[in-house]
Amino acid sequence: MKNKKIILFLVPVIVFFIVGSFFLLQMKKESFSWERVPMATNIYKKNIEISLGEKLPTSKDYGTQFTNPILWLDKDIEEKIMKAGKYQGIISFGHTPIFITLSVIDTQPPVIQNVENITTFIGEEVDLKSKVTVADNSKEDIELIVKGDYSFHKEGIYPLIYEARDFSGNISTANFQLIVKKKVEKPLPSNSSTTIMKTTKGYDITKKNGVYYIKGFIIANKSYALPNTYTPGGLTKETTAAFDKMKAAAKKEGINLNIISGYRSYTKQQSTYNRYVNRDGKKEADRYSARPGHSEHQTGLAFDVNSLEQSFGNTKTGKWLSENCYKYGFILRYPKGKENITGYMYEPWHFRYIGNEAKELYNNGNWITLEEYLGIDSKYD
Ligand code: DAL
Ligand code: ZN
Repeated sequence: MKNKKIILFLVPVIVFFIVGSFFLLQMKKESFSWERVPMATNIYKKNIEISLGEKLPTSKDYGTQFTNPILWLDKDIEEKIMKAGKYQGIISFGHTPIFITLSVIDTQPPVIQNVENITTFIGEEVDLKSKVTVADNSKEDIELIVKGDYSFHKEGIYPLIYEARDFSGNISTANFQLIVKKKVEKPLPSNSSTTIMKTTKGYDITKKNGVYYIKGFIIANKSYALPNTYTPGGLTKETTAAFDKMKAAAKKEGINLNIISGYRSYTKQQSTYNRYVNRDGKKEADRYSARPGHSEHQTGLAFDVNSLEQSFGNTKTGKWLSENCYKYGFILRYPKGKENITGYMYEPWHFRYIGNEAKELYNNGNWITLEEYLGIDSKYD
């Protein structure tokens, strides 16, 4: 009987201790289980806030004593926490999952870079947004707008604002001015040289003070005219010097060279040409006389010697000139059979100074024309 009483006393005490120890052990093991959770769901929620770019929290950060990894419901969470937002995860222990959330907060506004005043001309539109770059800590697209009124069609200085806004609503602004100007056509300085096109031989055709040059040679033919104001005032020094040398050399061989027509001004050429037109008609005159502005005689680099007869080409003097003039820098400017290229009939008396390259055109006695050599035409429009 006494034993029965002792047993009746001891059993509840032992049970109490066993149960108590169990609960004490549980408390030590996992304090969470003692926090209040909704009975119906047995779900425990906890949220942690981190800043964009911060490390992911661990299960310990959520207050557990586990080392269980967090199972994130969003895949690629590492990638995703570079975007502000709320993410869900689970820490599981036994049969009781802890449902957790993570709030990634972005408080950093975007940074607008390379902001400068923008200058343009009336009617020339500029993509204002493309002039700046926007940097941000998030991997979201940044909204960039330009605030303020402006017009690309009205002269003015427009104060404007770039506004950049990230996904979390952080905003930054930057002031700048759009300057819309009237276009002022700058006249080219009168002595500037411009390349207008290339010849068929690939040489630049440049124009300076209304005069065309190719390879440094002044061009005067049916396609390229000189301005009426162009005047060297006479034969150029180098032309005269070269002629004197040639004359002296010819003399040694018993040949007399005399210039019968050298430099001719624009107006002189005008009267010369008109005289021929009156005599032979325009069509015929154009075969042997240049219109004013188109004559090489106006360059001061060309002259006619001795005779204006085509038969001159068959004389000793004519032949000597054709065979030797290149040595002194002269070319037979209008060779026989090249009228369709030079625009002029054969002129065994007309020579033009071009310098050393004359040898190339001499071509071992088979004269090529300046037009062929440079790759240009000689035709009136
Ligand atoms: N006789 C040449 C073509 C001139 O008039 O210039
Ligand atoms: Zn001539």
